[in-house]
Amino acid sequence: MKALPALACLLALGACRGTPPEAARVVRAAFGRTGDGTAIDIFTLTNTRGMEVQAISYGAIIRSIRVPDRNGTLDDVVLGFDTIDGYLRTHPYFGAVVGRYGNRIAKGQFTLDGTAYRLATNNGPNHLHGGVKGFDKAVWNSETLERDGAVGVIFTHTSPDGDEGYPGTLAARVTYTLTPANELVVDYAATTDKPTPVNLTQHSYFNLAGAGDILQHRLMLNADRFTPVDATLIPTGELAPVAGTPFDFRQPAAVGARIDANDQQIRNGGGYDHNFVINRTGAGLVHAARLEEPSTGRTLDVSTTEPGVQFYTGNFLDGTITGTMGRVYKRRSGLCLETQHFPDSPNQSAFPTTILRPGEALQSKTIFAFGVTK
Ligand code: GLA
Repeated sequence: MKALPALACLLALGACRGTPPEAARVVRAAFGRTGDGTAIDIFTLTNTRGMEVQAISYGAIIRSIRVPDRNGTLDDVVLGFDTIDGYLRTHPYFGAVVGRYGNRIAKGQFTLDGTAYRLATNNGPNHLHGGVKGFDKAVWNSETLERDGAVGVIFTHTSPDGDEGYPGTLAARVTYTLTPANELVVDYAATTDKPTPVNLTQHSYFNLAGAGDILQHRLMLNADRFTPVDATLIPTGELAPVAGTPFDFRQPAAVGARIDANDQQIRNGGGYDHNFVINRTGAGLVHAARLEEPSTGRTLDVSTTEPGVQFYTGNFLDGTITGTMGRVYKRRSGLCLETQHFPDSPNQSAFPTTILRPGEALQSKTIFAFGVTK
Protein backbone atom coordinates (compact mmCIF):
# COMPACT_ATOMS: atom_id res chain seq x y z
CA MET A 1 0.00 0.00 0.00
CA LYS A 2 2.93 2.29 0.69
CA ALA A 3 3.67 2.44 -3.03
CA LEU A 4 0.27 3.97 -3.79
CA PRO A 5 1.05 7.67 -3.25
CA ALA A 6 4.14 7.32 -5.40
CA LEU A 7 2.14 5.55 -8.12
CA ALA A 8 -0.60 8.19 -8.01
CA CYS A 9 2.19 10.67 -8.31
CA LEU A 10 3.52 9.05 -11.45
CA LEU A 11 0.08 8.81 -13.03
CA ALA A 12 -0.86 12.41 -12.25
CA LEU A 13 2.41 14.22 -12.67
CA GLY A 14 1.10 17.61 -11.58
CA ALA A 15 -0.15 16.36 -8.21
CA CYS A 16 3.21 14.79 -7.53
CA ARG A 17 4.87 17.86 -6.12
CA GLY A 18 2.06 18.35 -3.60
CA THR A 19 2.48 14.92 -2.01
CA PRO A 20 4.56 15.30 1.14
CA PRO A 21 7.21 12.60 1.55
CA GLU A 22 7.05 10.29 4.57
CA ALA A 23 10.47 11.51 5.62
CA ALA A 24 12.27 14.77 4.96
CA ARG A 25 14.75 14.48 2.13
CA VAL A 26 17.41 16.33 0.19
CA VAL A 27 18.08 15.37 -3.42
CA ARG A 28 21.00 16.54 -5.55
CA ALA A 29 20.65 16.77 -9.35
CA ALA A 30 22.47 18.39 -12.26
CA PHE A 31 21.36 21.96 -13.18
CA GLY A 32 23.56 22.66 -16.20
CA ARG A 33 26.95 24.28 -16.67
CA THR A 34 28.51 27.73 -16.52
CA GLY A 35 30.09 29.28 -19.63
CA ASP A 36 33.44 27.64 -18.85
CA GLY A 37 31.84 24.20 -18.46
CA THR A 38 31.71 23.99 -14.66
CA ALA A 39 28.86 21.71 -13.54
CA ILE A 40 26.17 23.32 -11.36
CA ASP A 41 24.03 21.22 -9.02
CA ILE A 42 20.54 21.84 -7.72
CA PHE A 43 19.47 20.66 -4.27
CA THR A 44 15.80 20.03 -3.51
CA LEU A 45 14.96 20.04 0.19
CA THR A 46 11.51 18.71 1.13
CA ASN A 47 9.97 18.35 4.58
CA THR A 48 7.11 16.12 5.70
CA ARG A 49 4.62 18.96 5.31
CA GLY A 50 5.44 19.25 1.62
CA MET A 51 7.36 22.53 1.84
CA GLU A 52 10.14 22.51 -0.73
CA VAL A 53 13.24 24.68 -1.11
CA GLN A 54 15.60 24.52 -4.07
CA ALA A 55 19.12 25.95 -4.03
CA ILE A 56 21.88 25.83 -6.63
CA SER A 57 25.65 25.76 -6.26
CA TYR A 58 25.99 28.86 -8.50
CA GLY A 59 25.87 31.87 -6.17
CA ALA A 60 24.41 29.64 -3.40
CA ILE A 61 21.17 30.87 -4.96
CA ILE A 62 17.77 29.96 -3.56
CA ARG A 63 15.92 29.18 -6.75
CA SER A 64 12.47 28.40 -5.34
CA ILE A 65 10.54 28.16 -2.08
CA ARG A 66 7.21 26.34 -2.38
CA VAL A 67 4.90 26.77 0.61
CA PRO A 68 1.18 26.13 1.15
CA ASP A 69 -1.48 28.83 1.25
CA ARG A 70 -4.41 28.70 3.66
CA ASN A 71 -6.05 26.01 1.47
CA GLY A 72 -2.90 23.91 1.32
CA THR A 73 -2.07 24.91 -2.27
CA LEU A 74 1.67 25.13 -2.88
CA ASP A 75 3.19 27.97 -4.86
CA ASP A 76 6.67 29.37 -5.40
CA VAL A 77 7.04 32.51 -3.27
CA VAL A 78 10.42 33.75 -4.54
CA LEU A 79 11.57 35.17 -7.87
CA GLY A 80 13.91 33.05 -9.94
CA PHE A 81 14.52 31.20 -13.18
CA ASP A 82 13.66 27.76 -14.55
CA THR A 83 17.13 27.10 -15.94
CA ILE A 84 20.77 28.03 -15.34
CA ASP A 85 20.76 30.38 -18.37
CA GLY A 86 18.66 32.96 -16.51
CA TYR A 87 21.14 33.03 -13.65
CA LEU A 88 24.16 33.34 -15.96
CA ARG A 89 22.71 36.47 -17.58
CA THR A 90 22.65 39.80 -15.73
CA HIS A 91 19.90 39.78 -13.10
CA PRO A 92 19.35 41.69 -9.86
CA TYR A 93 20.75 39.08 -7.44
CA PHE A 94 17.63 36.85 -7.41
CA GLY A 95 17.97 34.49 -4.42
CA ALA A 96 21.73 34.91 -4.19
CA VAL A 97 24.12 35.02 -1.28
CA VAL A 98 25.69 38.45 -1.55
CA GLY A 99 29.31 38.99 -0.50
CA ARG A 100 31.88 39.86 0.50
CA TYR A 101 29.94 42.98 1.30
CA GLY A 102 26.19 43.02 0.81
CA ASN A 103 24.93 46.54 0.05
CA ARG A 104 26.99 49.65 -0.73
CA ILE A 105 30.43 51.00 0.13
CA ALA A 106 30.71 54.70 -0.72
CA LYS A 107 32.86 55.45 -3.77
CA GLY A 108 34.31 51.93 -3.58
CA GLN A 109 36.85 53.05 -0.99
CA PHE A 110 37.69 52.36 2.62
CA THR A 111 40.71 52.56 4.89
CA LEU A 112 41.48 49.72 7.27
CA ASP A 113 44.32 49.79 9.81
CA GLY A 114 45.88 52.71 7.90
CA THR A 115 45.80 51.09 4.45
CA ALA A 116 43.48 52.46 1.74
CA TYR A 117 41.62 49.93 -0.41
CA ARG A 118 39.86 50.46 -3.73
CA LEU A 119 36.94 48.37 -4.91
CA ALA A 120 34.95 48.35 -8.14
CA THR A 121 32.38 51.13 -8.49
CA ASN A 122 29.64 49.05 -10.06
CA ASN A 123 26.63 51.10 -8.89
CA GLY A 124 26.94 54.72 -9.98
CA PRO A 125 29.77 56.16 -7.88
CA ASN A 126 29.56 53.32 -5.32
CA HIS A 127 30.51 49.69 -4.76
CA LEU A 128 27.53 47.31 -4.55
CA HIS A 129 27.10 43.70 -3.43
CA GLY A 130 30.74 42.60 -3.53
CA GLY A 131 31.71 44.04 -6.91
CA VAL A 132 31.79 42.88 -10.51
CA LYS A 133 32.11 39.20 -9.64
CA GLY A 134 30.75 38.84 -6.14
CA PHE A 135 29.77 35.72 -4.24
CA ASP A 136 26.51 35.65 -6.21
CA LYS A 137 28.53 34.60 -9.27
CA ALA A 138 30.87 32.12 -7.56
CA VAL A 139 30.53 28.37 -7.94
CA TRP A 140 30.27 27.07 -4.37
CA ASN A 141 31.30 23.64 -3.10
CA SER A 142 28.41 21.74 -1.64
CA GLU A 143 27.40 18.88 0.62
CA THR A 144 24.03 17.73 1.88
CA LEU A 145 22.98 17.37 5.50
CA GLU A 146 20.22 15.46 7.32
CA ARG A 147 19.71 15.93 11.05
CA ASP A 148 16.79 15.58 13.49
CA GLY A 149 14.11 15.57 10.80
CA ALA A 150 15.69 18.62 9.11
CA VAL A 151 17.46 18.54 5.77
CA GLY A 152 19.86 20.96 4.21
CA VAL A 153 22.77 21.88 2.04
CA ILE A 154 26.11 23.37 3.06
CA PHE A 155 27.81 25.68 0.55
CA THR A 156 31.45 26.71 0.99
CA HIS A 157 33.52 29.19 -0.98
CA THR A 158 37.07 30.50 -0.54
CA SER A 159 37.60 34.02 -1.83
CA PRO A 160 41.32 34.63 -2.49
CA ASP A 161 43.37 37.50 -1.06
CA GLY A 162 42.73 40.56 -3.26
CA ASP A 163 39.46 39.19 -4.73
CA GLU A 164 37.52 42.22 -6.05
CA GLY A 165 40.04 44.39 -4.19
CA TYR A 166 39.28 43.06 -0.70
CA PRO A 167 42.17 42.04 1.57
CA GLY A 168 42.67 38.54 2.96
CA THR A 169 41.69 35.01 2.05
CA LEU A 170 38.09 34.66 3.18
CA ALA A 171 36.61 31.21 3.79
CA ALA A 172 32.82 31.46 3.76
CA ARG A 173 30.17 28.87 4.57
CA VAL A 174 26.42 29.20 4.11
CA THR A 175 24.06 26.48 5.33
CA TYR A 176 20.41 26.24 4.33
CA THR A 177 18.32 24.01 6.60
CA LEU A 178 14.65 23.22 6.11
CA THR A 179 12.99 22.24 9.39
CA PRO A 180 9.77 20.27 10.01
CA ALA A 181 8.19 23.57 11.17
CA ASN A 182 8.40 25.17 7.67
CA GLU A 183 11.42 27.27 8.61
CA LEU A 184 14.31 27.93 6.28
CA VAL A 185 17.34 28.54 8.51
CA VAL A 186 20.31 30.34 6.98
CA ASP A 187 23.61 30.07 8.87
CA TYR A 188 26.61 32.11 7.74
CA ALA A 189 30.18 31.49 8.89
CA ALA A 190 33.48 33.02 7.79
CA THR A 191 37.14 33.24 8.73
CA THR A 192 39.97 35.30 7.26
CA ASP A 193 43.77 35.48 7.28
CA LYS A 194 43.86 39.33 7.11
CA PRO A 195 41.42 41.93 8.43
CA THR A 196 38.63 42.49 5.90
CA PRO A 197 35.08 43.82 5.79
CA VAL A 198 32.39 41.12 5.51
CA ASN A 199 28.63 41.52 5.27
CA LEU A 200 26.90 38.41 3.97
CA THR A 201 23.21 38.44 3.18
CA GLN A 202 20.50 36.56 1.34
CA HIS A 203 18.92 38.40 -1.58
CA SER A 204 15.67 36.46 -2.15
CA TYR A 205 12.78 38.46 -3.57
CA PHE A 206 9.57 37.33 -1.87
CA ASN A 207 6.09 37.43 -3.30
CA LEU A 208 3.83 35.43 -0.99
CA ALA A 209 0.98 35.54 -3.55
CA GLY A 210 3.25 33.87 -6.11
CA ALA A 211 2.44 36.47 -8.80
CA GLY A 212 1.41 40.09 -9.28
CA ASP A 213 2.97 42.90 -7.26
CA ILE A 214 3.76 43.05 -3.54
CA LEU A 215 1.91 46.29 -2.75
CA GLN A 216 -0.94 44.56 -0.86
CA HIS A 217 1.43 42.53 1.34
CA ARG A 218 1.25 43.72 4.93
CA LEU A 219 4.59 44.27 6.63
CA MET A 220 5.71 44.69 10.23
CA LEU A 221 9.30 45.78 10.88
CA ASN A 222 10.58 45.69 14.44
CA ALA A 223 12.56 48.90 14.01
CA ASP A 224 12.21 52.27 15.74
CA ARG A 225 14.94 53.73 13.51
CA PHE A 226 16.31 53.49 9.98
CA THR A 227 19.40 54.76 8.21
CA PRO A 228 18.43 57.62 5.83
CA VAL A 229 20.42 57.75 2.60
CA ASP A 230 21.68 60.30 0.10
CA ALA A 231 20.62 60.26 -3.56
CA THR A 232 23.16 57.45 -4.27
CA LEU A 233 21.73 55.32 -1.43
CA ILE A 234 24.70 55.80 0.92
CA PRO A 235 23.66 56.31 4.58
CA THR A 236 24.06 59.84 5.89
CA GLY A 237 25.21 58.34 9.20
CA GLU A 238 22.06 59.33 11.05
CA LEU A 239 19.87 56.77 12.82
CA ALA A 240 16.55 58.51 12.26
CA PRO A 241 13.30 57.72 14.08
CA VAL A 242 10.65 56.11 11.86
CA ALA A 243 7.86 57.74 13.88
CA GLY A 244 5.71 60.00 11.72
CA THR A 245 7.36 58.85 8.44
CA PRO A 246 6.44 56.34 5.69
CA PHE A 247 9.14 54.16 7.29
CA ASP A 248 7.07 53.37 10.36
CA PHE A 249 6.14 49.69 10.03
CA ARG A 250 6.06 49.00 13.77
CA GLN A 251 2.37 48.28 13.33
CA PRO A 252 1.59 46.14 10.25
CA ALA A 253 0.89 48.27 7.18
CA ALA A 254 0.39 47.58 3.48
CA VAL A 255 3.69 47.90 1.63
CA GLY A 256 1.99 50.07 -1.00
CA ALA A 257 0.16 52.41 1.39
CA ARG A 258 2.91 55.05 1.58
CA ILE A 259 5.34 53.90 -1.13
CA ASP A 260 4.62 56.96 -3.30
CA ALA A 261 4.54 59.43 -0.39
CA ASN A 262 5.89 62.91 -0.95
CA ASP A 263 9.01 62.20 1.10
CA GLN A 264 12.66 62.83 0.23
CA GLN A 265 13.80 59.40 1.50
CA ILE A 266 11.13 57.63 -0.57
CA ARG A 267 12.28 59.64 -3.59
CA ASN A 268 15.93 58.74 -2.95
CA GLY A 269 15.03 55.05 -2.91
CA GLY A 270 12.46 55.11 -5.71
CA GLY A 271 10.28 53.46 -3.05
CA TYR A 272 11.71 51.48 -0.14
CA ASP A 273 15.40 50.64 -0.47
CA HIS A 274 16.55 51.33 3.07
CA ASN A 275 18.27 49.69 6.00
CA PHE A 276 16.22 49.46 9.19
CA VAL A 277 17.86 49.30 12.62
CA ILE A 278 16.36 46.24 14.28
CA ASN A 279 15.27 46.85 17.88
CA ARG A 280 17.36 44.69 20.19
CA THR A 281 18.56 44.76 23.77
CA GLY A 282 21.51 42.39 23.32
CA ALA A 283 23.01 39.83 20.98
CA GLY A 284 21.09 36.82 19.67
CA LEU A 285 18.10 36.10 17.49
CA VAL A 286 15.34 38.71 17.41
CA HIS A 287 12.13 38.92 15.44
CA ALA A 288 12.86 41.50 12.74
CA ALA A 289 9.95 41.34 10.32
CA ARG A 290 6.58 39.79 9.58
CA LEU A 291 4.97 39.73 6.16
CA GLU A 292 1.36 38.71 5.48
CA GLU A 293 -0.32 38.27 2.11
CA PRO A 294 -4.09 38.74 2.57
CA SER A 295 -5.43 36.86 -0.49
CA THR A 296 -3.52 33.59 0.11
CA GLY A 297 -3.02 33.91 3.88
CA ARG A 298 0.69 33.09 3.53
CA THR A 299 2.95 34.63 6.18
CA LEU A 300 6.69 35.00 6.61
CA ASP A 301 8.45 35.78 9.91
CA VAL A 302 12.10 36.79 9.76
CA SER A 303 14.36 36.47 12.81
CA THR A 304 18.04 37.30 12.78
CA THR A 305 21.20 37.85 14.77
CA GLU A 306 22.06 40.80 12.46
CA PRO A 307 21.65 44.46 13.52
CA GLY A 308 19.84 45.56 10.34
CA VAL A 309 17.52 44.60 7.52
CA GLN A 310 17.45 46.18 4.06
CA PHE A 311 13.83 46.47 2.95
CA TYR A 312 13.84 46.74 -0.85
CA THR A 313 10.63 46.82 -2.88
CA GLY A 314 11.97 45.72 -6.26
CA ASN A 315 11.97 49.29 -7.56
CA PHE A 316 14.47 48.48 -10.31
CA LEU A 317 12.47 45.56 -11.76
CA ASP A 318 10.98 46.74 -15.05
CA GLY A 319 9.28 43.84 -16.82
CA THR A 320 12.31 42.99 -18.96
CA ILE A 321 13.00 39.74 -17.09
CA THR A 322 10.86 36.65 -17.52
CA GLY A 323 11.43 34.14 -14.76
CA THR A 324 10.08 30.93 -13.31
CA MET A 325 7.08 29.46 -15.17
CA GLY A 326 6.96 32.40 -17.59
CA ARG A 327 6.30 34.96 -14.86
CA VAL A 328 7.23 38.50 -16.00
CA TYR A 329 8.91 40.44 -13.22
CA LYS A 330 7.49 43.94 -13.37
CA ARG A 331 8.34 46.79 -11.00
CA ARG A 332 7.60 45.72 -7.41
CA SER A 333 6.78 42.11 -8.17
CA GLY A 334 9.00 41.03 -5.29
CA LEU A 335 10.41 42.46 -2.07
CA CYS A 336 13.66 41.71 -0.25
CA LEU A 337 14.29 41.55 3.48
CA GLU A 338 18.09 41.41 3.49
CA THR A 339 19.29 40.86 7.05
CA GLN A 340 22.68 42.51 7.31
CA HIS A 341 25.03 44.99 8.92
CA PHE A 342 24.40 48.57 7.87
CA PRO A 343 25.46 49.82 4.42
CA ASP A 344 28.85 51.57 4.14
CA SER A 345 29.92 50.44 7.63
CA PRO A 346 33.64 50.39 6.66
CA ASN A 347 33.36 54.21 6.32
CA GLN A 348 30.99 54.83 9.24
CA SER A 349 32.78 54.34 12.55
CA ALA A 350 29.56 54.79 14.57
CA PHE A 351 27.90 51.77 12.89
CA PRO A 352 28.43 48.22 14.24
CA THR A 353 31.71 47.00 12.78
CA THR A 354 31.86 44.66 9.78
CA ILE A 355 35.60 44.05 10.09
CA LEU A 356 36.52 40.39 10.53
CA ARG A 357 40.01 39.73 11.83
CA PRO A 358 42.25 36.65 11.81
CA GLY A 359 41.40 34.34 14.71
CA GLU A 360 37.78 35.52 14.81
CA ALA A 361 34.88 33.44 13.51
CA LEU A 362 31.98 35.26 11.92
CA GLN A 363 28.69 33.59 12.77
CA SER A 364 25.30 34.86 11.76
CA LYS A 365 21.85 33.32 11.57
CA THR A 366 18.58 34.27 9.90
CA ILE A 367 15.37 32.24 10.06
CA PHE A 368 12.63 32.58 7.44
CA ALA A 369 9.55 30.95 9.03
CA PHE A 370 6.54 30.39 6.76
CA GLY A 371 2.95 29.97 7.88
CA VAL A 372 -0.64 30.91 7.13
CA THR A 373 -3.31 33.07 8.72
CA LYS A 374 -6.98 32.06 8.78
C1 GLA B 1 19.76 45.84 -3.07
C2 GLA B 1 19.97 47.28 -3.21
C3 GLA B 1 19.10 47.82 -4.29
C4 GLA B 1 19.36 47.09 -5.58
C5 GLA B 1 19.16 45.62 -5.38
C6 GLA B 1 19.51 44.86 -6.61
O1 GLA B 1 18.60 45.53 -2.44
O2 GLA B 1 19.78 47.99 -2.01
O3 GLA B 1 19.33 49.18 -4.45
O4 GLA B 1 20.67 47.33 -5.99
O5 GLA B 1 19.94 45.17 -4.31
O6 GLA B 1 18.90 45.38 -7.75
